[in-house]
Amino acid sequence: MSASMKEVLLEVKGLKKYFPILAGLLRKKVGDIKAVDGIDFKIYQGEVLGMVGESGSGKSTAGRAAIRLIEPTAGQVNFQGENFLAFDQEKLKAARRKIQSVFQDPYASLNPRKSIGHSIGEALLYHNIVSSKGEQTDRIAEILKKIGLPPDAMNRYPHQFSGGQQQRICIGRAIALNPELIICDEAVSALDVSVQAQILNLLAELKETLGLSYLFISHDLSVIRHISDHVVVMRLGKVVEYGSIEEIFYNPQHPYTKTLLAAIPRDRPR
Ligand SMILES: Nc1ncnc2c1ncn2[C@@H]1O[C@H](COP(=O)(O)OP(=O)(O)OP(=O)(O)O)[C@@H](O)[C@H]1O
Ligand SMILES: [Mg+2]
Repeated sequence: MSASMKEVLLEVKGLKKYFPILAGLLRKKVGDIKAVDGIDFKIYQGEVLGMVGESGSGKSTAGRAAIRLIEPTAGQVNFQGENFLAFDQEKLKAARRKIQSVFQDPYASLNPRKSIGHSIGEALLYHNIVSSKGEQTDRIAEILKKIGLPPDAMNRYPHQFSGGQQQRICIGRAIALNPELIICDEAVSALDVSVQAQILNLLAELKETLGLSYLFISHDLSVIRHISDHVVVMRLGKVVEYGSIEEIFYNPQHPYTKTLLAAIPRDRPR
């Protein structure tokens, strides 16, 4: 199916996020850091939008502002055709279940004092995905299977797992609530290259079986190429190029994209 026939899950228009620059004893505002400065992008249902750009180009800020982990300075966000920025608390709670995040450092994302079962299962009762402790345990076991961990992982703690396994657990926690969209912000960047491939494959498999969409943020173009359908290239808070994976990798238009592509190591296993 061509992209044009697919439904748009999340659409961002004119998104801005400025941070104040404060100076002096009175911390007076003397200017703005224009971290994200008027960007547009669309995430289609069932697709992966890769977001790439050098450090400080505004990728994380764009991802966070788009889903209101931080409030945008300006812009429009439509989620499933609705004005996401106008959602009241109740609608936001429902939307929070549908949009999950996976970050770079899995150990920091997990509570070291809580068992894996607790981390994966804690929100299930709150969001009425399950209605009893028994159902909750069954659901946790089902998720552990999906992420390639044994059922007894439930009773263990984050430090007893490798970095790759910890990231699997974070992915498990993200899929537990049956989301529509997962924001992966440098989700494989801290992992060894061989483990990166395993986690990317897991994400790709879950996308297919669960019908998920991802905003996949990475500074690494070889990772982006592995998983994305469309790509936005960010630079200094703006989108410099947007296109399908073929357009970006085989026919880049912007000199900045060409520079990024030229920097990919050739001998990197895919
Ligand atoms: N809370 C904040 N307060 C002030 N400035 C911020 C804040 N968060 C980000 N910035 C600034 O906004 C710009 C974009 O940062 P951002 O973290 O979005 O970049 P990035 O593309 O994700 O970089 P990286 O690849 O290093 O993760 C940077 O100049 C950063 O210093
Ligand atoms: Mg970032």
